[in-house]
Amino acid sequence: MEKITWRGGAMLAPLPVCLVTCRDGEKENVFTVAWTGILNTIPAKTYISVRKERFSYELIKNSREFVLNLTTEALARATDFCGVRSGRDMDKFKEMQLKTQKATEVGCPLLSDSPVNLECKVTDIVELGSHDMFIADIVAVDVDKNLVDENEKLNLDKAKLIAYSHGEYFKLGEKIGKFGYTVKKN
Ligand SMILES: Cc1cc2nc3c(=O)[nH]c(=O)nc-3n(C[C@H](O)[C@H](O)[C@H](O)COP(=O)(O)O)c2cc1C
Repeated sequence: MEKITWRGGAMLAPLPVCLVTCRDGEKENVFTVAWTGILNTIPAKTYISVRKERFSYELIKNSREFVLNLTTEALARATDFCGVRSGRDMDKFKEMQLKTQKATEVGCPLLSDSPVNLECKVTDIVELGSHDMFIADIVAVDVDKNLVDENEKLNLDKAKLIAYSHGEYFKLGEKIGKFGYTVKKN
């Protein structure tokens, strides 16, 4: 493959694009985050990188809590909209008709139509430059009951999750393998 070398940039794809919900006292908000991932398994740790100028930034900094809501094809419009409009100017839950429910471990609302909600408590805030990274413990995970079968297996392939790749949203494609399939004996 012949290559063209560009200067360093945030060119990792695909990424899970999430709707993050947050609350500080009476103020609650929802916004879109793609700069996220898993940092550690035990304890389960995640991060979100957020620019200081976001309305959500102060809410998360003050409450030290947020919820990462995985997004689906049905939530694609809301995912984009909540990433281009600010909670400073409008109630995005209302605008996008996003239903919410109470979380178990944190004060922020869960998005009812998201198949998986990660309830997070911030442990560290790292200033990186354009963004501050909120490192957080994942203290509870709420999953759509309809995706869990009788063996308690979560069938996430049925959730119609979406991904973000270089400025565009995609449906996930076909399953092409599973963890360790290359070495599994029949
Ligand atoms: C696909 C997508 C991904 C985004 N990812 C991030 C992100 O990781 N961090 C961030 O600070 N802003 C991100 N944004 C921008 C914010 O979601 C956007 O500025 C939003 O309006 C902030 O809302 P708020 O002011 O209500 O907090 C993203 C926007 C989109 C559309």
